[in-house]
Order: sequence, then C-alpha cells, then structure tokens
Amino acid sequence: MERVMNVTKELFVKLTQNSLKDDEKVLLEGWVRGNRDNGKIGFIEFNDGTTFKNIQLVYDHELLSKEIYDKCAHFKYAGAIKVEGKIKLTPENKQPFEVVVIDAEVLGDVDEDYPLQKKRHSFEFMRDIAYLRPRANTFNALFRVRNILAYAIHKFFQERGFMYVHTPLLTTNDAEGAGQTFKVCEDLKNPTEFFNANTSLTVSGQLHVEPFALTFRDTYTFGPTFRAEHSNTSRHASEFWMIEPEIAFADLEDDMNLMEDFLKYIMSYVLENCKEEMDFFNTMIEKGVLDKIQHVLNSPFKRMTYTEGIEILKEAVKNGEKFEYNHIEWGMDLQSEHERYLTEKVVKGPMFLIDYPKDIKSFYMKLNKDGKTVAACDLLVPGVGEICGGSQREDDYEKLKARMEKEGNDKTLDWYLNLRRYGGCIHSGFGLGFDRLLMYMTGLSNIRDVQPYPRTPGSIKY
Ligand code: 4AD
Ligand code: MG
Repeated sequence: MERVMNVTKELFVKLTQNSLKDDEKVLLEGWVRGNRDNGKIGFIEFNDGTTFKNIQLVYDHELLSKEIYDKCAHFKYAGAIKVEGKIKLTPENKQPFEVVVIDAEVLGDVDEDYPLQKKRHSFEFMRDIAYLRPRANTFNALFRVRNILAYAIHKFFQERGFMYVHTPLLTTNDAEGAGQTFKVCEDLKNPTEFFNANTSLTVSGQLHVEPFALTFRDTYTFGPTFRAEHSNTSRHASEFWMIEPEIAFADLEDDMNLMEDFLKYIMSYVLENCKEEMDFFNTMIEKGVLDKIQHVLNSPFKRMTYTEGIEILKEAVKNGEKFEYNHIEWGMDLQSEHERYLTEKVVKGPMFLIDYPKDIKSFYMKLNKDGKTVAACDLLVPGVGEICGGSQREDDYEKLKARMEKEGNDKTLDWYLNLRRYGGCIHSGFGLGFDRLLMYMTGLSNIRDVQPYPRTPGSIKY
C-alpha cells in the first residue's frame, strides 16, 4: 500500500478538478475540532490548518477493530492526530466528501486545563489567550484574510513595477512631527550613548522612502510602525503596519488615482481569494459587509475640498444636525463624526477630502497657491471615516526649510531638505493603515482583534 501525506487544501483542489476519487487513500495530520460518537459510529471535525473549513472523519465500528474505534472515540478536542483513511464522495451532502478512518493515532494530547472550549468566548477573553485564538473560527478566518491582503498589496505594486524598499525601524526622526515616538536606548542613564543620537522607533517610513522615489520613480514601503499615543481607543494600536507608496513626477491627482486603483484592487483580490472567510464575516461579524465592500468597488471616489466640507457641515448644523462637536469653523481638525457625515450622508460613498489648512497637517505637505492650504487628501469611507491619507510633498527648498524651522527641526532632517536641492521633483505618496483596512473589511470593530499580538497602552502580554 502506498502511503502519501496529504493536506486538506489539496483534497479540495482535486475535488474542484473532478480528480478526487472514491476509496482514494489519504494520510492526514491535523487537529480535532469536534468529536462525537454513539458507540457504533463517530464523527471527527478535523482541521489541518490548510483550509478554513473543517473536513469530517468518520469512524465506524463495523470497519475498525475495537481498539482503533475506542482510540478514535477518545480523541480530545484540540488534540493533534494522524489519520489514515479513504475518501468517500458525498455529493448529496453539505460536505462534498468525508474521510473514512482506517487507522489513527494521537500525536499530541490535550491537558484538562485547555482554556479554549468549543463554545462562544468573548473577544476580551480571546485577547487574553492570544497564543491560542488563531484556532477559533473568527481569528482563523481573520489571519487568513490578513495574509491574503498582505500578498495582494505586494502583488499590486510588483505587477506595476513599484520597488519595495525596506525603511528602517530605528530612526532619529519623528516623521509626522507629532512627538509620539517611543524612545530607544541601551542604557537609561545615558540614552544617547549607543547611537550617539536621540533614537526612537519609526512612526512612518515616508521620509526614508522619498529618496528612493527620487531615484526609482515608483516605490513603496510596507512594514511595522510605532506610535506612543495615549489614546486608548478601538482604532489605535501602539504597533501597526502601514503601506506607504511614494511616486515621483506625480501630483496629488496622480496620488488619488493610485489610491483608488490600489484599494479597489486589493479589496477585490480578497473577495475573490477568501470567499469562505468573507462569507463567515458577512454572517457572523457584520451582516452586509460584503455589500459594503462591493459598494466601494462600484463607486467612483468623489472629491471635495476641505473648505466645501466645512460649508456643508455648517449648513447641516444650521438645519438642525447635532454633532457632539457642534462648533464648525474653518481651520478646525475634523472629528470622525464630521468625516462620517460627509461620506455617509452627503456623498453616500467613498470620497477624498482635499486641500486642508496647513496648520492641521504635517510639515512636508505642498503649500497650495492660496498660501493657506496644503495639497493633502484623506480618503473617507462610510462606516469609519478616514482610512488613509496622503499628500503631494513640498518640493520647494525655501518653503520647506521655513516650515521645518518654524516647527523646530533640530538638523537631523537636513538630508531630507537637501533632496530638494539635488535633483528634486514633484512627488507624492500616501499611507494606508493595514490593520484599519482589515477592520473595515471584516467588520471586526476593535484593532486588537485584527492583530496577532496587539500592543496598546497598558497591554503587552505575549
Ligand atoms: O495619517 P498618518 O499619520 O500618515 C502618515 O504617517 C504619512 N507619513 C503617510 C504618507 O503620506 N506616507 O497615518 C497613515 C494611516 C492612517 O490613515 C491610519 O489608517 C493609520 O495609518 N494609523 C493607525 N493605525 C493604527 N493605529 C494607530 N495608532 C494609527 N495611526 C495611524
Ligand atoms: Mg492621517
């Protein structure tokens, strides 16, 4: 008898190709996700990690010795097992095939104190057992989608000739100028000794990727970023992943076109390649999440200036709309409720809000001709508000220098300024929060539930 080690993914592929045959022998290794028997016949829900869906193993006392039958009947929930069996096609059932057990053994037993039971646990409890939660359906589906989404991102850029740049995680600059960096040192008493400089974890790869865009034209960085924000919200993590494309000879318009193409591509890639997982989210986590994404895919992203947005919000307040923050005036930073009003009630779809007042945006953004606003855009979507933001970069040396001096640049960014003197050109880019996009696409409402090991203020278990 020829013994082949199989995985369930391969069995499903063969099934779709019509090449999975009755009585075909299989050898599987995986975990028990359920086990019930009545003394004569038993069913194991089995998962080997290669598919989201479980397959069913059947053990039958008429086909097995008492010893093997009893062994199967005693397989514990979550135990690792090895099974030899044969395929039985069951086209009339919900499960298109099952595996009839011939022989089986335990590879890893489960102690009584195993904390993850076959029932619904709260998300809070699951966070506390982050090392086990990938085994639960919601998280199993989530981490599969997370993987495919990351792949889709690289695929989009690589197919278009973008160069992937590894920007550093240790840095001397605060790219967003918001003072929310984690400090890094070897010796707390001599914090600058090791690098001979004030060092921190990066908040954004943007400044480090710009020189590459000014060499390779189309570039992107995709990696972890760190922010010491004390905001303990469901949308803020201290460590999160960000995608930051940077393109040369491109203005804000080109930047927005890229953002729209990019988002539509990666969203539809996930819909096509994570069907079962997305169906799960659509039924179990956010009813209608598939329609929501489809709506984004089918809508052209509208554009509106910040100034128009403010006028609309003022009108809304005049007509009785009640915002928590109800005092609308030009120059204010919009709250999430205002962004959502514009995208949900006014535009009723995804939109770019552009040309923000310079004082509420970062120092590197291109000053518009009016001298008051910058060529920045935030992409707002129904249900969340801001999902990503970008801008054309200030390419005028004197203007950028003045702006940086005003903000107290301590010379560590002189190299960044020099780029404007050494063959600089119009260039633009944006940043997409990977984890926030994942929240949007799955309907999971807390950023802690879309990351493998979330880090938030006061919480760094594991
Ligand atoms: O708007 P931000 O701060 O922009 C930048 O960092 C620019 N350098 C991007 C660029 O132009 N290259 O951050 C970009 C995105 C936000 O839209 C949001 O989705 C996400 O990063 N983000 C966070 N995600 C999770 N937790 C946090 N604490 C986040 N802060 C920002
Ligand atoms: Mg932003």
